Amino acid sequence: MQKAVFSLKPKIIFGPGSINDIGDEIRSVEPNPKVFICTDAGIVKSGISSQVTAVLDDQGIQYALFSDVVPNPKMETVDQALAAMKKFGGNVIVAIGGGSPMDTAKAVAGLYTNGGKISDYEGFELMKKPAIPIIAIPTTYGTGSEVGSCAVITNEEKNYKMMIISDCLNPKAAIVDPDLLVALPPKIAASTAIDALTHAIESYTCLRANPVTDALNIHAIKLIAQNGPQAIMSNCNLEATANMAIASTLAGAAMGNTGLGLVHAIAHALGGVADMPHGVANSILLPYVMRFNLPAVPEKYQIVGVTMGADVAKLCPLEAAKVTCTKVIPEFCQLAGVPSKFREVGLDKKLFDMIADYAMKDGNFPPNPRVTTKEDILAILEEAY
Ligand SMILES: NC(=O)c1ccc[n+]([C@@H]2O[C@H](COP(=O)([O-])OP(=O)(O)OC[C@H]3O[C@@H](n4cnc5c(N)ncnc54)[C@H](O)[C@@H]3O)[C@@H](O)[C@H]2O)c1
Ligand SMILES: [Fe+2]
Repeated sequence: MQKAVFSLKPKIIFGPGSINDIGDEIRSVEPNPKVFICTDAGIVKSGISSQVTAVLDDQGIQYALFSDVVPNPKMETVDQALAAMKKFGGNVIVAIGGGSPMDTAKAVAGLYTNGGKISDYEGFELMKKPAIPIIAIPTTYGTGSEVGSCAVITNEEKNYKMMIISDCLNPKAAIVDPDLLVALPPKIAASTAIDALTHAIESYTCLRANPVTDALNIHAIKLIAQNGPQAIMSNCNLEATANMAIASTLAGAAMGNTGLGLVHAIAHALGGVADMPHGVANSILLPYVMRFNLPAVPEKYQIVGVTMGADVAKLCPLEAAKVTCTKVIPEFCQLAGVPSKFREVGLDKKLFDMIADYAMKDGNFPPNPRVTTKEDILAILEEAY
């Protein structure tokens, strides 16, 4: 066994109604709070942000609401949010939403104290000053950004997604309240559920996996397999929703320690180059990348298959892994109703070369379990077209 380190920074508060703790959490990080809420228009429209502001109103906590975050947030999005935060003079940030508002909030929290532009901090640990404290409230099944130190921001000048990874960007607390996710629109539920499953599978099979992350990922895979379909299809199944929300946070905690793999390396490139929603890119890529990685991790893919309920425990690892990659995962994706080919979502083949180049520079490329060439990535993109 190799030496390994596991760390988890945010306090995690979960369960129905946990959003009512928001006031206490805010006051525990800042006794005289001025709260900058970072969210998007969909969260405002769905009434989720008003559930949070109702608690703040009740407790006499001053706040300003910024709701202009866009999916795959850009440097421009960060600049707009930062300007609004400076105008308001906030001292705590509450991020409400999926990965896009949470990552924008992290970028703003770091830039507010460290200065400069977000592109100055692309890479590992380049922010030296503590960030403004963040409390994260996830509202999708994907990303796990609420428990990690990474912000993913699109560099619109160069058309790729930057990863800004800095310990100071870890939220102080993550409030995972399934009441906020129970009415998630089915399309977003499906694509973000596959994002969470991809986090768990890639973190479990990548080169930096360790025994603690294995435990988190296996439990996350089991919860997603058992609850995903109900959580996606029936809009009011609180138990299934709660289990999916927990699975997403567990996989997020694991991936923050291990990194991911080729699905995410290519999906980030697709987000930057083609503005493809993250969950959609993952949904299409997952079965194809798993088939490519199969020779490197057959035993682990067998365990993924068994964990997802397939009758493959008695097969040899290679055969079991084949069933996992060609049957179990595609069937799960089909059940979730996510797109299975890039042509269905209008991807232009002319972008393949640029996507492959960016994927090889992504932070998730090195931990992929199988050595990968540009030709391999082009072949995966072609197969998934
Ligand atoms: N920081 C990380 O570690 C990390 C990890 C993976 C992905 N990401 C990034 O996260 C972003 C994707 O985040 P995402 O997939 O969570 O989606 P998202 O935040 O982009 O949201 C997608 C859409 O869903 C809507 N929505 C979200 N929750 C809702 C709810 N409960 N009810 C109704 N509508 C709702 C939003 O309004 C938005 O229109 C990408 O930019 C991706 O690169 C970050
Ligand atoms: Fe992801």
